[in-house]
Amino acid sequence: MQSNTAQLIKLTDYEETPYVIETVSLVFKLHAEATEVVSTLSLHPRARTPAGTALELDGDELKLLSIKLNGTPLEDDAYDAAPDKLVVHNPPTEPFKLEITTQINPAANTRLMGLYLSDGIYCTQCEAEGFRRITYYYDRPDALSVFTTRIEADKASNPILLGNGNPQETGRIDGTDRHFAVWHDPHPKPAYLFALVAGDLTCISEKYTTASGKPVDLNIYVEKGNEQRAGWSMDSLVRSMRWDEKTFGREYDLDVFNIVAVSAFNMGAMENKGLNIFNDKYILANSETATDLDYEGIETVVAHEYFHNWTGNRITCREWFQLCLKEGLTVFRDQEFSSDERSRPVKRIADVVRLKSRQFPEDQGPLSHPVRPTEYKEINNFYTATVYDKGAELVRMIKTILGADGFRKGMDLYFERHDGDASTIEDFIKCFEEANDTDLSHFSLWYHQSGTPHLKASSSYDEAAKTFTLELEQTTPATPGQPEKEPFFIPVRFGLVGPNGEDIAYSKAEGARVDGDLLCLTERKQTVVFHGIGSKPVPSLLREFSAPVKLEAGLNRHEQIFLMRHDIDPFNRWQAAQTLMSEMLIEMTNGDIPAGKDAFISALANMAEDENLDHAFRGFGLMLPSEKDIALEIGKDVDTDAIGAARDAFAKEIGASLYDTFERIYSAIEVSETFSPDAASAGKRSLKLRCLYYMAASGIEGSAALTKAHFDAADNMTDRMGALNLLVTWNLEGAKDGLQAFEKRHQGTALAMDKWLSIAAGAPNEDAVSTIRTLTEHPAFSWDIPNRVYSLIGGFLGSNTRGFHKADGSGYDYLAEITLHLDKNNPQVASRLVKSFGSWKNMNAERRVKAKAALERILNADQQLSTDVKEIVERCLD
Ligand code: PHE
Ligand code: ZN
Repeated sequence: MQSNTAQLIKLTDYEETPYVIETVSLVFKLHAEATEVVSTLSLHPRARTPAGTALELDGDELKLLSIKLNGTPLEDDAYDAAPDKLVVHNPPTEPFKLEITTQINPAANTRLMGLYLSDGIYCTQCEAEGFRRITYYYDRPDALSVFTTRIEADKASNPILLGNGNPQETGRIDGTDRHFAVWHDPHPKPAYLFALVAGDLTCISEKYTTASGKPVDLNIYVEKGNEQRAGWSMDSLVRSMRWDEKTFGREYDLDVFNIVAVSAFNMGAMENKGLNIFNDKYILANSETATDLDYEGIETVVAHEYFHNWTGNRITCREWFQLCLKEGLTVFRDQEFSSDERSRPVKRIADVVRLKSRQFPEDQGPLSHPVRPTEYKEINNFYTATVYDKGAELVRMIKTILGADGFRKGMDLYFERHDGDASTIEDFIKCFEEANDTDLSHFSLWYHQSGTPHLKASSSYDEAAKTFTLELEQTTPATPGQPEKEPFFIPVRFGLVGPNGEDIAYSKAEGARVDGDLLCLTERKQTVVFHGIGSKPVPSLLREFSAPVKLEAGLNRHEQIFLMRHDIDPFNRWQAAQTLMSEMLIEMTNGDIPAGKDAFISALANMAEDENLDHAFRGFGLMLPSEKDIALEIGKDVDTDAIGAARDAFAKEIGASLYDTFERIYSAIEVSETFSPDAASAGKRSLKLRCLYYMAASGIEGSAALTKAHFDAADNMTDRMGALNLLVTWNLEGAKDGLQAFEKRHQGTALAMDKWLSIAAGAPNEDAVSTIRTLTEHPAFSWDIPNRVYSLIGGFLGSNTRGFHKADGSGYDYLAEITLHLDKNNPQVASRLVKSFGSWKNMNAERRVKAKAALERILNADQQLSTDVKEIVERCLD
């Protein structure tokens, strides 16, 4: 067995390319097993490139058919061609043309990178390094070039031929059954934004006119028969385009904007210039197959990819270490869009739930890395929650610190100054500094220093002096490669809540930079004294979750309940409830009976019934922290069975003591008869289902029948899936019937059956692994389609905490087995799954031994591991 010795890539090694590719003209002769790609590059050396410097282009599993320089075939000794590299020795010192012909096999491309076939449709995926699987090229984001693409294919099976940019000409190829289309993209772009699609597709279309009056044709292409399910995506696209004009002054810049949905796709979607390619999960929706969460996800992802046109495409990254420059910023933009379209506090809660459940665990384990990393072996491993979601939090903090106007000024300068550039985080920060005449150097540490800071607060009140003193201390635990930590610049939004629930105004604050409701911490420990405080307040800290830190608020249960009832910041009302639940669940896990439980439960009832709050917020308020969240909070020597048992017991107790309340809320909410995915209707459905969750947990007579009735009466996927999940989770009578009925109804609709797979995978059960094994034999499952794998295996790893971390190690063994299995065909998918080992060091000794052995088994397996999997496993074991 050949061992994999991938290079460590370092930020400090960055160098410009010695040659510039001015234009590239591509001809694709599409055939399933032998596609020919002719690439003609116009090149010139940079002024400082020494004469004779070799031209080295990237490749990956390529076969070179021919190579010509200025029209003449190159002599054998003038170049070296390997599958992963093309070297041209001694290129001309004057501008020259290189014509490279390669042959590739789309049908055999199981990695879904480069050009591949998905359900008979040719499509490409080039980010991050997929273009080198098509032709030899400078496959790096700072090599910007103008692309022209000619696509040739059989006309009957591929009536639709799509490329980047604007359509030029189409026609038949004489004497054959083939036709062609030529596309030209006037905007210079890196190869990772290249795309083509060919297949038998149908589309829905709309005409859009930009703010300055430019007409744009919008098309969403789907497999025939799915066009009825693309309407919501189109609606989301149009709203995104308007929003970006209004909010950031950014308009679209081509004559057409095309989106294509495919079923085999590793990630969510891809922002290729003028030709976004989507995982069909983020395009297709109707009430029968999609949940409210799916509708929300589609809106978000359509917006996200569209917003990349400015943040990512017009301004791209210098190298992949700068990934957060486009991703963190674009996530921030899509979050803001959804907040404006829906309820801002509810969206904020949803985003923080996501951050805490995905990014916090990453940042507190062996896979922790800075938002802008400085080294990697496989860039695909860095499309992480840290780069995306923490990256978005950093942009949000800049806005918090500078205010809305200052933020907009910085963004305007960024767009103006860097349009057409391959940029860096330093360039980005500098725009905010210059536009606001301020210094963000301390703040920038957030990009370089990894780990989740811990913020500990304590306070005291001096009645005689009318002062309130707040002590704040930050510590950041060591993370891989960073044993010592500097204090961060932490913006803390706050209020001092008086006995009547209103914020108390202070006359003066000393000890930190405090401005209105914003306090900026800059040191390890700071004491802030507020003057003119007439009565003892309860501090409400980190309102709106103003910084991605773990807060220990230093409040007693009574004070937390007070905030839960009265804080004017809805986010902190929710947070207070979460903190209380989390604390109590940990005590119950340890076998203790939590103090103040009854008071908490009655506050929870009040929050659930409060008609002044919107339904979605009340639904979130009732949400118990997940078993995974609690495991992370405990942090070491975790026994997942004890957590699961405590959480089940708590749900049952809340359900039993508030049964009448839940029943009342449940019956009072009326959802309009015709389905609508709008936020208000979705909120109603979610609160109803949350009430049903507790009723189903209670075990009270009639609750199982009520849950089954909800399932049977459901006329949309949200209710059907929600109720089925409860039947299965609480193992109620009707679960088996429900699973069968669901299967019968949705067999043949892959995206709906994914939900069925994930429900079955998430259910706690004695022998989870054999359940999963059996399901891998089900016709709805396939190892080759990432969505199927993410639903079944991802559902098991992500939601079945007791099953995956089972003390006998069966979950760990199974993950090792499937990682090795998947790695042979699709390393990116294998690597995403194997990241679930990231929490192993937090487990108790019994589990740690098993997890370590499973990780070692992967590393020592008798097969060549991909760089993707090897890097993750090594970091886990480090
Ligand atoms: N750039 C895509 C996005 O976030 C994600 C992606 C990365 C897709 C790599 C495919 C491959 O919008
Ligand atoms: Zn993105």
